[in-house]
Amino acid sequence: MSEQKPGNDGQYYQHHVFFCLNDRVNGEDSCAHHGAKDMFDHCKARVKAEGLSGPGKVRVNKAGCLDRCAGGPIMAVYPEGVWYTYIDNDDIDEIVESHLKNGKVVERLLTPPDVGR
Ligand code: FES
Repeated sequence: MSEQKPGNDGQYYQHHVFFCLNDRVNGEDSCAHHGAKDMFDHCKARVKAEGLSGPGKVRVNKAGCLDRCAGGPIMAVYPEGVWYTYIDNDDIDEIVESHLKNGKVVERLLTPPDVGR
């Protein structure tokens, strides 16, 4: 097996971001009903424009339901295990600039710890 390409702390990605894009069609609420797909696209574009994407840096991925729907729309950043509830593109820009670029968690957008499905 080939050797893992290291970023910070030997992680392949310094920040691996997962956006819930679940789109329930049974009448129940889900992140896709709150603009998650558009903000996922915006986040990918911002990360790329900032030169942050790639091994050792940032990867932004689609995800299915992360089972914290009540706080949606939801995104999670690993390996830190930080969960965000965002509202609009300004929130995404702040997460990219503060957390993904400068390593500072955006406290005001944190999903409350007791929020589940
Ligand atoms: S629908 Fe997004 S976390 Fe469940």
